[in-house]
Amino acid sequence: MILGIETSCDETAAAVVTEDGRVLSSVVSSQADLHARFGGVVPEVASRRHLELVSPVVRDALGVAKARLDRIERVAVTQGPGLVGALLVGISAAKALAWARGLPLVPVDHLEGHVASLYLEPEPVDPPFTCLLASGGHTLLLAVRERGRSERLGSTLDDAAGEAFDKGARLLGLGYPGGAAIDRLARDGDATAFDFPVARVPGLDFSFSGLKTALLYTVRDLGKEEVEARRADLAASYQRAIVRALVERLEEAAEATGLERIAVVGGVAANSALRAGLPDAAFAPLQLCTDNAAMIASCARYVEPLPYPRYRDLDAYASIA
Ligand code: KG4
Ligand code: ZN
Repeated sequence: MILGIETSCDETAAAVVTEDGRVLSSVVSSQADLHARFGGVVPEVASRRHLELVSPVVRDALGVAKARLDRIERVAVTQGPGLVGALLVGISAAKALAWARGLPLVPVDHLEGHVASLYLEPEPVDPPFTCLLASGGHTLLLAVRERGRSERLGSTLDDAAGEAFDKGARLLGLGYPGGAAIDRLARDGDATAFDFPVARVPGLDFSFSGLKTALLYTVRDLGKEEVEARRADLAASYQRAIVRALVERLEEAAEATGLERIAVVGGVAANSALRAGLPDAAFAPLQLCTDNAAMIASCARYVEPLPYPRYRDLDAYASIA
């Protein structure tokens, strides 16, 4: 059994996963409420909260899995990218647990972790495939030819897709994080009511910053009452622009790689319009789209572990290499 720990952003998570990919437990404690009044994640607040939550969350994950610590064979932890202070809390906890038991430690890349959410039972999705990873912090197109290894084809030049959802939600007064709120509201709206263009940049990259500005101007021009009355149309049209950009680029990427099978992971993979727009794609299970530790433990199965005690100096990294 593998114990996974994830603390890269504002979710404190722990999970127990078996070698063959069964999720025995996956506990996620979200700090979203704590950060909502600031309109985004405050790094120092996140670190402190992780510190309070990490032990109870690990205990809970072991409890739900009915696994005692002495049944755990290795500990997996997110090494980066993410908020350094937040990552260090998870890494310190993982080191302490592994060290105390003389276990190997597996450092996991958060982005590879999202991809590995596809490899869990009961319906694992196997490579090769072209993968879209769309979350609050990242938007990447990947060619995945084998488990645990992916080749980057393109990424965002500015905002991530989830960030575009969150910023749009804020402009529409929907609170933070707003992706799911836009998704819900858009169901009652007309997606063709407003024409929000998404910039097409060369290659297989994305750009979402102009879209948010377009929404800002539209909201300003409409005025408060009109925005109130047409909020669902605005949400639906804005969502449609993001989804179209993602679907188009993803299909271009699949054509370029020749890996026609398409998979989608990350928080934005929960979006219902994106799911509807890609009827043949494989999506990560809903509960594994947003940050969790089951995906980290899953990924650890394909990463060389650091034997005890060679992880004493293991450090976090903030950004993608
Ligand atoms: O993967 P994740 O938990 O965190 C990062 O690694 O960044 O993704 C969180 C992001 C947020 O931006 C959130 O607004 C977005 O995923 N999200 C959604 C939906 N559910 C979560 N975006 C669109 N539609 C949704 N249903
Ligand atoms: Zn993530």
